[in-house]
Amino acid sequence: MKRYVMGNYGRFPIAFSRGEGSWIWDESGRKYLDFATGIAVCSLGHCHPTMQEALRAQAAKLIHCSNLYQIREQAELAQFIVERVLRKPGSLFFCNSGAEANDALIKLARKFGHDSAPANGDVIRNEIITCTNSFHGRTLGGIAATGQEKVKQGFAPQLEGFVHVPFNDGEALRAAVSPRTAAILFEVVQGEGGINVATPEFLRTADQLRRERGLLLMLDEVQCGFGRTGDWNAWETALRGADFELEPDAVSWAKGMGGGYPIGGIWATERPAPGADFRLCDVLGPGTHGSTFGGTPLASAVSLAVLKTIEDEGLIANADRIGQRIREAVVGWNHPLIREVRGLGLLIGFVIDEGVLAATEHFASSGQTPSLYVVSRLMEAGMLTVPAGSGVVRWLPPLNVSEDEVAHGLELMRATLDALVNP
Ligand SMILES: Cc1ncc(COP(=O)(O)O)c(C=O)c1O
Repeated sequence: MKRYVMGNYGRFPIAFSRGEGSWIWDESGRKYLDFATGIAVCSLGHCHPTMQEALRAQAAKLIHCSNLYQIREQAELAQFIVERVLRKPGSLFFCNSGAEANDALIKLARKFGHDSAPANGDVIRNEIITCTNSFHGRTLGGIAATGQEKVKQGFAPQLEGFVHVPFNDGEALRAAVSPRTAAILFEVVQGEGGINVATPEFLRTADQLRRERGLLLMLDEVQCGFGRTGDWNAWETALRGADFELEPDAVSWAKGMGGGYPIGGIWATERPAPGADFRLCDVLGPGTHGSTFGGTPLASAVSLAVLKTIEDEGLIANADRIGQRIREAVVGWNHPLIREVRGLGLLIGFVIDEGVLAATEHFASSGQTPSLYVVSRLMEAGMLTVPAGSGVVRWLPPLNVSEDEVAHGLELMRATLDALVNP
């Protein structure tokens, strides 16, 4: 790897050769419980038979076809997402990753601002408000939208037109809206930023601003979407019991959408765009945007098979029930190394108590962040997890994870944490 592959990732010294369900094997044959799932990608676990069959069947029929033509599989996937996942009229654009999906949202917002300019006098709305601690991808658009300095360093000049406000600060959000604001964009659950869930108050303010100020509410569901939180859409879980419904104008996805096959996409509402006489889903007309590989027959057929399996096998309810069980179990431990348990469904963050960890034997000499240190110890114990920021250990089990696998994961984590405080 070092000789022939660029060093842009910090990689663990381990290579995997086989996976099945919630398990993955390294090249030496050692088996690991995979609660990292390629960072929220393998929603059905590894090599699910339905995915294998969808890949095989479509690969034998038609793998690629340009977007110069009609693509039946793409239309069927879009129909499923509109009718079953969102239950809101609108249409989709398909791409290959989360960053690409967010770039499409950024272009959608700018084009909406441009096209609605005459209705708003001279001011062209081309600014997007995003949140601090957010993560929206590694393209130039993605890093400009992301509210973390570390992803921007060395890549100046940044794409203009982004304003960042503290996450879950409704007052700051309101104060940041100006005549130039085209859209608000945020993750309902910040993943890379440390598993921070949007509060109902923040979501209500965002929805009010959408209506009062005629701007777009755009949600990045790249990591938290498609069932992971215990509902098809993360905002539905975040708003359980609330007395209002959120009406996003546009949504981005990737990761779990293809269960491991690369695909991303955005949806835009059929509602007339605020302050304009056109539908938002018509804003990106012919020639405005595109991607050679977006929504190929193969990617679309596999993604549809994944989403249908999530529905048919009741995996959203499974994510909800098992996620709850994991959080309750870990809270019940009252473990000195865990300061807080956060998240929704199977997007779970364990906040490490840095003070307690700092007092343990080998942490200081490791040179690692608290989250990376604990993730590394868990890996040695036979379990894959992911750091979320410097202080949070993230669990992202497959949506079809079993009670037994979770019991095993809990045992491994408890034993690992105990060994750190009582070596
Ligand atoms: C919320 C969110 N948006 C966007 C992205 C970028 O996705 P991708 O790596 O597929 O470009 C990520 C990736 O972690 C993400 O978590």
